[in-house]
Amino acid sequence: MDVTALRRSWRQFTVAGPRAVKYFYASLFVIAPETRTMFPTNMRYQEDKLLAALGHILTHVDDAEELTAFTHRLGADHRRFQARDADGNVIHLAEHHYIWVGQALLATLEHFLGTAWTPALKAEWAAAYEAVAKLMLAGAAESERSLPPYWEAQVLDVDRRLVDLVVLTVRPNYLCAYRPGQSLPVQLPDLRMWRYLSPANAPRPDGTIEFHVRATGRFSTHLVRRTGVGDRLLLGHPVGTTLSSYDRAPHRPLLLVAGGSGLAPLRAVVESLRQGPARSVTLVVGGKTPSDLYDHQALAMLASTASAGQSAGERWLRYVPTVEAGWGWEGAVGTAVDVALRLRSWEDSDVLVCGSPAMIRDTIRTLVDAGVPPDQILTETFDHTSYPPIVASPDTSRPLSRLGAR
Ligand code: HEM
Repeated sequence: MDVTALRRSWRQFTVAGPRAVKYFYASLFVIAPETRTMFPTNMRYQEDKLLAALGHILTHVDDAEELTAFTHRLGADHRRFQARDADGNVIHLAEHHYIWVGQALLATLEHFLGTAWTPALKAEWAAAYEAVAKLMLAGAAESERSLPPYWEAQVLDVDRRLVDLVVLTVRPNYLCAYRPGQSLPVQLPDLRMWRYLSPANAPRPDGTIEFHVRATGRFSTHLVRRTGVGDRLLLGHPVGTTLSSYDRAPHRPLLLVAGGSGLAPLRAVVESLRQGPARSVTLVVGGKTPSDLYDHQALAMLASTASAGQSAGERWLRYVPTVEAGWGWEGAVGTAVDVALRLRSWEDSDVLVCGSPAMIRDTIRTLVDAGVPPDQILTETFDHTSYPPIVASPDTSRPLSRLGAR
């Protein structure tokens, strides 16, 4: 396989930007109209996830081990995308869908590459695409043996904690086995949009899941404003391997730094650690003002039950709420990372960071400047369109997050 030719042509092709995305979807919907219902109703909001990932993967086809793991996972996850025929019957994703997507991809490349699109280059792209599609289909077939394509979840409770933030409790129709720190793709059937949300609790025996959602885009605003008890959500397969590896070095103390609803996966981690052998955990939750600390009561309760009967020196969980400004606020003041660094140095610890992209970037930079080894800092994008998955990087020019629950 001529990987250099694939990469060179992809670089040339990406110059077309959004025009290529439009052309790709228009070609796909002409070749295969039945695929239209799989995608969001309003394609104006469509990010070029599929196309971007395809190009990225195809230009990395020489890393066989990583490619196999990634495409198997992606293929299994694609089982949640289903079409409907004219009578409303569900059509499962199958080999012919992959052939149609491949045809749309080649047509788009041909259109934008002009004279660079030679028969030899076309053969390279066709072979690379076929290899990736086969790996995805194999991943789907493997997962079919043990998992449903998605879970149907019913909303049991809607707790609007802030004007722009809701805590939802849902119950999936089957137990959904996620690891604390992971995220689930969530769909609102009305919007036909999938976005990632992180469970805020460790898996419970009754299978219920709590999501914390802040209104930042169309999907999350719909959840915050319109969701009611009894509504139905679809949940896809759990994703994320970084935050959920919090227990990779149990001998190290753990620092958790949260901003806004980025608290959710970190609270799930704390809950799961409560069930295991004692480990020193410090959870610093930052807000601009005290009202941003929407989960303060629950966390204070968790910390007090965690330390019941123990002296300050023995406590395994230390919860530190902090705000940047607040009248009458008696707790810590400053950003979460600054307050964490005032507590002690964290060179011996694993640090999990979750919040907005800007908060994550600033926090990592400050921790690295303070001497925390970059490989001890874990963060995640809840987005598996990145290839390879993005991990903490002291290089702050590199984007750490591209998508979220928007
Ligand atoms: C080699 C082939 C393919 C690759 C690499 C690929 C990759 C991706 C990726 C990375 C995403 C984003 C997932 C996410 O948001 O978590 C995605 C989304 C999606 N893919 Fe694929 N895909 C492929 C084939 C297909 C096929 C054959 C179909 C069906 C016709 C399909 C339908 C979709 C749909 C409906 C979405 C969701 C779009 C949205 O809601 O924004 N994909 N794909």
